[in-house]
Amino acid sequence: MKGRILLINGPNLNMLGWREPEKYGSTTLDEIVRESTNLAYKLGYELVAFQSNSEGEIVDFIQREGISSVGIVINAGAYTHTSVAIRDALLSVNVPVVEVHMSNVFRREPFRHVSYLSDIAIGSIVGFKENSYYLGILALVSFLEGKKVSLEE
Ligand code: DQA
Repeated sequence: MKGRILLINGPNLNMLGWREPEKYGSTTLDEIVRESTNLAYKLGYELVAFQSNSEGEIVDFIQREGISSVGIVINAGAYTHTSVAIRDALLSVNVPVVEVHMSNVFRREPFRHVSYLSDIAIGSIVGFKENSYYLGILALVSFLEGKKVSLEE
């Protein structure tokens, strides 16, 4: 394996599959984690997934696991729009970060247009429902390997 990728999900994302399916689709977080793990594995990486509804637990996880990872894909949920603490934790571990959102936050309420993570991320992927996660993993790996994105084996 070429390294470990962290997939971090913030508050309410444990409700995927039931929660506002018109915005977030009907796939559960377990299914997304399973697909993401398979995709990362095919690309040569181990994936470690974590979800929490509490900001401090997300900060603790980033501090604990971030340094030994090669990169982080994060959907911080509502904390995206509020959390200086998660931003600072990501900066402290100094690995590349990809921000993902299932919904297109820019088509939603103005408070969702502000992100505390976008300017410290290498890039953001928004609006593609569960595919945002898979595109996020592909984007991180292509960044790490300096390659064009390719779906070929
Ligand atoms: C979200 C968008 C956030 O604004 C919202 O609070 C979420 C989900 C998304 O994936 O589209 O919980 O991060």
